[in-house]
Amino acid sequence: MTTYYYTASSLDGFIATTEHSLDWLLKQDIDQDGPMAYTQFEKGMGALAMGASTYEWVLRNTAGEPWGYAQPTWVFTHRELPVPDGADVRLVRDDVSAVHAEMTAAAGERDLWIVGGGGLVGQFSDAGLIDEIWVQYAPVTLGSGAPLLPRALDLELLEVARNRNFMCGRYRVVRDGAGVKRLIADA
Ligand SMILES: NC(=O)c1ccc[n+]([C@@H]2O[C@H](COP(=O)([O-])OP(=O)(O)OC[C@H]3O[C@@H](n4cnc5c(N)ncnc54)[C@H](OP(=O)(O)O)[C@@H]3O)[C@@H](O)[C@H]2O)c1
Repeated sequence: MTTYYYTASSLDGFIATTEHSLDWLLKQDIDQDGPMAYTQFEKGMGALAMGASTYEWVLRNTAGEPWGYAQPTWVFTHRELPVPDGADVRLVRDDVSAVHAEMTAAAGERDLWIVGGGGLVGQFSDAGLIDEIWVQYAPVTLGSGAPLLPRALDLELLEVARNRNFMCGRYRVVRDGAGVKRLIADA
């Protein structure tokens, strides 16, 4: 069982604009069946978690369409958000470790995908619960926006690929983080 953070990012480390727009991303060319792309990745996922902004983006941008995820999806929020008919969406708050245990039980043989945003992934990371990070870097800079992952982590680069416009990287989270802590202490 592996817990993934799989996302696309601008080159300067933002996953959405400050207004939660993904127009800069959706205009890019990618082969969804190509290297490190979504179609194959998603098949291996047995449970998803996302934050409220990400969920609201999905609702806004798929209005009138069926819910797009077959997997049970935990949405972190302090609010009573709408849930589309037929969607297995579970609104939760606060304790990522308890939710991770529920996701693990629900996923069977498959893996877990923390969809984002970065702050929520940071909470899972703080609890030692993120194993791998896959980032598809788009050829844009945004200057500001929703951060990719606002934490100091040591990562090991496992794989790189080009998929059309995207530079794709797969990283393992190095658990003790000693290198980053040392760099910060020396600064
Ligand atoms: N580039 C990509 O591939 C990609 C991938 C994923 C997301 N995105 C985009 O990136 C942006 C991310 O937005 P964001 O940074 O605001 O992150 P987010 O994680 O989507 O949403 C943050 C919100 O989630 C809720 N939340 C987080 N942790 C919680 C907890 N422990 N308990 C209860 N509620 C919790 C809070 O909402 P409330 O308190 O208001 O309920 C918080 O304001 C979105 O626009 C999304 O569409 C892009």
